[in-house]
Amino acid sequence: MLEEKIYNTLDKLGETTIEGEGVTRISFTKEHKMANKFIGDLMKENGLEVREDNAGNMIGEYFSKNKNAKTLVIGSHEDSVKNGGKYDGPLGIILPIISFGEYLKEEKELPYNVKIISFGDEEGIRFAMPFISSSIIAGTFDYENLNRVGIYNKTLGEALKDFGGDPTRLNEDKIDDISDFLEIHIEQGPILFNENTSLGIVNAIQGFKRYEVNIFGEAGHSGTIPMDMRYDAGVGASEIVYKLNKIIRKKEKIVATVGKMKFLPGSENVIPSKATFSIDIRSLSEELLVSSMEEIEKLIQDVCKKLELTYNLKIKTENKPTLCNENIISKLKDSFIENELHPRIISSGAGHDAQEMSKVTNIGMIFVRCEKGISHNPKESVSLKDINDCVKVLKSFFCKYFK
Ligand code: HGY
Ligand code: MN
Ligand code: MN
Repeated sequence: MLEEKIYNTLDKLGETTIEGEGVTRISFTKEHKMANKFIGDLMKENGLEVREDNAGNMIGEYFSKNKNAKTLVIGSHEDSVKNGGKYDGPLGIILPIISFGEYLKEEKELPYNVKIISFGDEEGIRFAMPFISSSIIAGTFDYENLNRVGIYNKTLGEALKDFGGDPTRLNEDKIDDISDFLEIHIEQGPILFNENTSLGIVNAIQGFKRYEVNIFGEAGHSGTIPMDMRYDAGVGASEIVYKLNKIIRKKEKIVATVGKMKFLPGSENVIPSKATFSIDIRSLSEELLVSSMEEIEKLIQDVCKKLELTYNLKIKTENKPTLCNENIISKLKDSFIENELHPRIISSGAGHDAQEMSKVTNIGMIFVRCEKGISHNPKESVSLKDINDCVKVLKSFFCKYFK
């Protein structure tokens, strides 16, 4: 049974992690290398030619005998957040490899080339910048970012070299002839679970903007400075985060998260001279993102003025709201109906490699229900039934797509 093979393979892949709760597989590390070896072997077992590019991507390729064949690319990411789950990313690698392998065994030959890609860095945990590996495949990578220093105090360029890649040849890794890109991914939210629906067809992916905010005050002795004589960056940041949340809660169809915050110098008995925090803001509407960020910057100015602090606000990364391709959506709808599944159209709150790939080709996404919508969490889980539904839909999609 393919669904069991997929499920067990994901379990095995989930073992390539550092110690600790759940899965922590950071890009361009030994765990990433172990995952690439594991995925590469699986690709070979399923009739694909395998190569690792300079960006830590593992690429399984089927070449059609038809010289003018177009190319379907399917893919997702192998890297995880810290203490994440086994399925965010890998489901969209392992399920297509095993399903395609089965399909190829039956069909023997295809009029299309197919590439299945395991993207090395999507989450952006190491370099605070998502979609590194898919941007190299898409040819949208900004080479300035090779100098970005990551959480292990190495630049991206150094990390790629240590991993066995050649950062001076990344431009050779762009894949040009992509006709469509398909990504399978867990929903990472509660909609399919609450509606007792196993799969969804994505029509659009939220845009996002990520900022770093620095608030500057003045360090001082926590025991001697009276409360009304302080320039406390920590208090300023905390008031901003609280009020930012209130502003966004009052709106519709937009979310904002402060996921990281640090006070410096970071001693219990020193009034913080600096506070640094992240803002991750997302919506399907670019205008709403822009207008909301203007409101948030006004809030930061007002709080800093009141507490006699200063600030700076730096955009770290952003991606516009993205539409999926109507042709792919319609083939997916037919594939759902053929398998007696309701073609539930759903937008994506999470960002995905498909968002980067949409800059150079048509994209489509299938969402798979995850238990209670839990993700970015060791408790992330999927069911055999839903994996099986996705395998059936993917096979129907192949039949329509490759004919
Ligand atoms: O942040 C995201 O949306 C995705 O998990 N990388
Ligand atoms: Mn994720
Ligand atoms: Mn993901």
